[in-house]
Amino acid sequence: MHIVEKAGTKGASLVAAAPYLTEQRYEEYTPEQHEVWAELVRRRRPQLEAHACREYLDGYQFIGLEDDRLPNLSAISRRLKPRTGWSTTPVSGFLPSDAFFEMLDARMFPTTTWLRGRDSLAYTPEPDIFHDVFGHVPMHAHKVFADFLQHYGSVCARIKDANTLERLGRLFWYTVEFGLIREKGSVKVYGSGVISSHGECTNVIEGGCQVRDFDLDEVLNTPVKVDRIHSLLFAIESFDQIYEAMHEAERRLRAS
Ligand SMILES: [Fe+2]
Repeated sequence: MHIVEKAGTKGASLVAAAPYLTEQRYEEYTPEQHEVWAELVRRRRPQLEAHACREYLDGYQFIGLEDDRLPNLSAISRRLKPRTGWSTTPVSGFLPSDAFFEMLDARMFPTTTWLRGRDSLAYTPEPDIFHDVFGHVPMHAHKVFADFLQHYGSVCARIKDANTLERLGRLFWYTVEFGLIREKGSVKVYGSGVISSHGECTNVIEGGCQVRDFDLDEVLNTPVKVDRIHSLLFAIESFDQIYEAMHEAERRLRAS
């Protein structure tokens, strides 16, 4: 039912994102940086083994992350591509939205290569490789989520209206970044911001955050607050739900 449209050679035709593509110079990471990665993983894995959704944990195994070494992005892409068509593509930093959507549409996830220092283990305002790879990339091994993410990029890449983009940005925020899912009656986490942040995840687990059933209209009408821990997040029942929600959003755009 969910057709995987592989990126193929589309990456070669990137326009808006082209200036931001870079390389990961893996051999230049220092032993101290590998140790910081290992420490970040040690801090997050125990909680995630109990509270991350099954699809995230399966994806973590599938992409071959090692607990004590920074990830090699090419090696991850070699595993992911045959399964969902996605690659984990190094970029030089924050991307403007047109470049970001173009890459998602091409099933290329823009990934930073820098790693936070030991002085900011708990939080970094700018996404680093830990947020991008540990937080996001395991979900790209899940076929329905992978198709949802590509479709999100393809729809947003065609939108010029800032207000519409802001509303769709809320869908991204409350799913890809801070999404929750119900699994056998328990709330589990899958969004990268909750996966990679001990504070956000603990807040969900300990009930500091209200969890409502995912509803497309409510999500589109709930502004994002980036400067404080979440007091409201949304739980889906399955990844089919956000796949269908994105198609519903697209239908509405076409009808408007
Ligand atoms: Fe993110």
